[in-house]
Amino acid sequence: MALDIIHGDCMDILPTLEAGSVDCILTDPPYGLPEYEPPSWHRNNSGTCTNVTEEGWDVFSTAWIPHAARVLKPNGSALVFCRVDDVGCVRNALSGAGIPTRHVLAWVKTTPVPRGCRPVYQSAFECIVWNARPNAWFDRPPDGRDRWNVIEGTTVRGKIERTGHPTQKPEWLIERLMRRHVPPGGTVLDPFLGSGTTLAVAARLGMNGIGIEREERYIAIAEARVEAVQQQLRLTMD
Ligand SMILES: C[S@@+](CC[C@H](N)C(=O)[O-])C[C@H]1O[C@@H](n2cnc3c(N)ncnc32)[C@H](O)[C@@H]1O
Repeated sequence: MALDIIHGDCMDILPTLEAGSVDCILTDPPYGLPEYEPPSWHRNNSGTCTNVTEEGWDVFSTAWIPHAARVLKPNGSALVFCRVDDVGCVRNALSGAGIPTRHVLAWVKTTPVPRGCRPVYQSAFECIVWNARPNAWFDRPPDGRDRWNVIEGTTVRGKIERTGHPTQKPEWLIERLMRRHVPPGGTVLDPFLGSGTTLAVAARLGMNGIGIEREERYIAIAEARVEAVQQQLRLTMD
């Protein structure tokens, strides 16, 4: 099993990876990057981008997606988390890069972040755009269960899984997507690795993975998570 955690900007690293070498791009890009931010995007006091426009996301998606698509196998697939407003941009960028549109999944959060008493809706779902090349892997459980395009479940909970990364995805969700879309022993690519959820799950499932993250503090967290899973596996094999 090969698990590579690479510190750097994915725009620089992706062009250095072997073409046609990964089975699945599974990633959760940031909802705002300073270098792609038009003046209309504003940051609030906690540094989060507000007022992110579709136009900005379009520029961002068409920048990183072609680099990632080059690394994907001719029968590979892509799963990209995004807000509902950005589904069109992501789908178009993926299909423009030669990964045809398939479906959109919704992750419905049973434990969404509270919004206080402001007159706004509480954001309780995120979209996952699924595009795939012909003959992409799609695991079908024998009894046909578990194939709804709505996936319901909690956000990250509990001290053991929580790392302190502000937008960490829960392992149960990433595992579910990987079991379905990455063949056994296959390779997953996450250009926006964050705290390393994708690679920690790949380690547990005996898959290969490449993760790229530009913040050093998150690289350290990701490495520790993968090491912890590997240590646990070694203990259970002894
Ligand atoms: C939404 S978070 C991913 C969180 C991840 N799914 C997890 O479970 O921890 C996006 C990550 O992308 C990183 N990032 C942003 N721009 C990047 C770039 N150009 N190259 C690599 N990483 C980048 C950010 O530092 C952030 O940690």
